[in-house]
Amino acid sequence: MTPIRVGIIGTGIMGSNHLKHLKGQPENFQVTALCDINPENLKGEEKAGIPHFSDYRDLLDSGLCDIVAVATPHPCHGEISMAAFRKGLHVMCEKPLTDTISKTDALLAVAKEAGTVFSTNFSMRTTSVNILIKQMLSENALGKIIRVDFVCTDWLRSQNYYDKQAWRGKWKGEGGGVLMNQAPHNLDLLHWWFGEMTSVRGTIGTRLHDIETEDEVEATFINKAGFPIRFYANTGEAPGIDRIEIVGDKGTLVREGTKLTLTKLKESVSELIAGEAGFPKVESETTEVPIPEKLRGAGEIWKNIAAAIRNGEELIAPGADAWAAVEFANAITISHFTNSEVKFPIDRKVYDKLLSELINKTKTLR
Ligand SMILES: NC(=O)c1ccc[n+]([C@@H]2O[C@H](COP(=O)([O-])OP(=O)(O)OC[C@H]3O[C@@H](n4cnc5c(N)ncnc54)[C@H](O)[C@@H]3O)[C@@H](O)[C@H]2O)c1
Repeated sequence: MTPIRVGIIGTGIMGSNHLKHLKGQPENFQVTALCDINPENLKGEEKAGIPHFSDYRDLLDSGLCDIVAVATPHPCHGEISMAAFRKGLHVMCEKPLTDTISKTDALLAVAKEAGTVFSTNFSMRTTSVNILIKQMLSENALGKIIRVDFVCTDWLRSQNYYDKQAWRGKWKGEGGGVLMNQAPHNLDLLHWWFGEMTSVRGTIGTRLHDIETEDEVEATFINKAGFPIRFYANTGEAPGIDRIEIVGDKGTLVREGTKLTLTKLKESVSELIAGEAGFPKVESETTEVPIPEKLRGAGEIWKNIAAAIRNGEELIAPGADAWAAVEFANAITISHFTNSEVKFPIDRKVYDKLLSELINKTKTLR
């Protein structure tokens, strides 16, 4: 079968990672073009022999690609992806889709009109334990959900990580900190597992690094079904925790890293509450849930994209779904600066104005 021709736009850390994954699937893909505004990031043995571009528009005009992988800093994901869709190409746009929900809306409209394959790289959707949680929730294994607690601090970054690239940790450079760069994965899982939220109240802080944007976030979402989801993330603790606790009427599911534990109640919480006993006797059984397959990752996203292009296979991480992580992040930031609960859908203009004020206030990346 003829390999699908890929152009990678942005060949820094993640673009180089995509190159590695794509070279590992020669039956599916051939990387036929690379683009970066920094010529240093086009150097290296693995990039040699592949046509290079310094302007993404030239790559799109070259006719060398069927799909582009967009791995530049997030604020220009929208502009580049839209230009690719307008050329009739398929797009794999890195997370977050863009830095603001208004730009995301514009991107999704253009993607819909193009009708080509649009994936993002929410690779946590490919890990077996996360797929299993999704399955258990859709089978109603826990009954009605009572509450969720999600702590995501497995994201330690050094000061040098932020200092080395001028765009990191800046309002203009990435439109946020942990909420825009690391936590989109976690916010996407919340959306994927639990669906729509009605509101959020949150605060952000810059406590652990010397950066403009937040390196810490805590927020409480109210899910459409009425239960609260408490969310905490930072980029400044070790060894870091990746733990979710989902408490339901029939039991509790805890994921700690990749280990999943299920506690099943003999009598449901609603039965215990409705019963005679003032201090109900709770009987339960706790077991570790076997995880069916080993962990996967970005390579799986690419395999899925190949199958989507060739056979119309359903996407694991559709671009059309990825608005939620952007809107959740924007909403938490509004909530912090207005000290108020923010309802979904958020007012796009309010966030655009806030971000432009934050950029103008700091003006460190001109
Ligand atoms: N899915 C994941 O797990 C994951 C992991 C890391 C990063 N990312 C995402 O990938 C994106 C890039 O992150 P990174 O860590 O690789 O950053 P990076 O700084 O290492 O790489 C970005 C590259 O884009 C280039 N660039 C900037 N503007 C450009 C333009 N207009 N045209 C062409 N090239 C341009 C830069 O010169 C740089 O080489 C970010 O959006 C980030 O959130 C995703």
